[in-house]
Amino acid sequence: MFDRVPAYPGDPILSLNEDFQLDPRPDKVNLSIGIYFDDAGTLPVMDAVRRAETALLESIGPRPYLPMAGLPQYRELAQALVFGAHSDARTAGRIATLQTLGGSGALKVGADFLKRYFPASQIWISDPSWENHRVVFEGAGLTVNTYPYYDEQTGGLRFADMLETIDRLPERGVVLLHACCHNPTGVDLSPAQWAELVPVLQRRKLIAFVDMAYQGFGAGLEEDAACVRVLADAGVPLIVANSFSKNFSLYGERCGALSVVCKDAPEAARVLGQLMSAVRANYSNPPTHGARLVANVLADASLRASWEAELATMRERILAMRGTIHAGLAGRVDEVMRARYVAQRGMFTYTGLSESQVERLRSEYAVYVLRSGRMCVAGLNGRNADYVASSIAAVVVRP
Ligand code: LMR
Repeated sequence: MFDRVPAYPGDPILSLNEDFQLDPRPDKVNLSIGIYFDDAGTLPVMDAVRRAETALLESIGPRPYLPMAGLPQYRELAQALVFGAHSDARTAGRIATLQTLGGSGALKVGADFLKRYFPASQIWISDPSWENHRVVFEGAGLTVNTYPYYDEQTGGLRFADMLETIDRLPERGVVLLHACCHNPTGVDLSPAQWAELVPVLQRRKLIAFVDMAYQGFGAGLEEDAACVRVLADAGVPLIVANSFSKNFSLYGERCGALSVVCKDAPEAARVLGQLMSAVRANYSNPPTHGARLVANVLADASLRASWEAELATMRERILAMRGTIHAGLAGRVDEVMRARYVAQRGMFTYTGLSESQVERLRSEYAVYVLRSGRMCVAGLNGRNADYVASSIAAVVVRP
């Protein structure tokens, strides 16, 4: 019956991470998947999360199904974190927010909503973008196109080309934008560039779909969400997917949210209802535990302060590692390639390594980066950074 089912070629990120787990070499270094490891190379349990979880276990109660839209307190707090506690759109009750299964779940529910209510619309993602963007949106039946983004020559942004392409898109087209810490390139729009993009989106009557998976890993919690607030204030039709996987180090709990900014409160209520209908069709309702942890940390002043401080430490450690590898590569690779480590932001650097160099890094040195050359710099630490720099120098220099 299933004879004709072909083998799955694997996922460029998740399958590589699984290969890494099976690699027996003791010096192996995982710079593939977007996960933050601490300086000891371990996945941190944030102190605020640990305290919230301990308190939660003290008061285990019944566990009914959550509503289709998720835990009300979580939705409220997630919305405030994304849009700002005092956002006008929030005060007016015109944002529909629901709990989702991580950022990917938010993208999927948003994609189903778009397919249903904008069946003629296509979506444009950056070139390049997170590999799973195409998979999720095509999976929901949308046609996925790209707009120019990354400049391979300079390691920076092709902003003029990006703007020119977006300025030619058909009305009701959807533009997928990364709020901060662009995945995979680490290259973001500046505040001035966001300000230039907004009128173009408005003039062309486009829908902005913002993916914010790394809030807090760029410049700070508020700074990283600034573009969302600019878009919401300007009245651009806006959908936002956000994730707590990275900034709470709660990857396996699948905590995310999807928000749609509407014209007014009645429209938001109708949109929320249709998002709930998409949730029901996919998985009925989201799970409880992770959402309670996130909500309890965000709602408690002391836990929240501790969480924010720890997140700042993570952000600073990533910056320090960028400096370390930059220094370690001095005189060993060309300057354009080296500069990327300190010019790009967030968890990722687009190294410019070729596929064959990436392959040699893995097979000869047990250093794992994505085939595209994307490196998760949050996997570097005081013990492996020199080894990684020497390994890169070796594969870049030797033919
Ligand atoms: C990544 O880009 O590595 C992460 O967002 C994990 C994932 O699901 O791909």
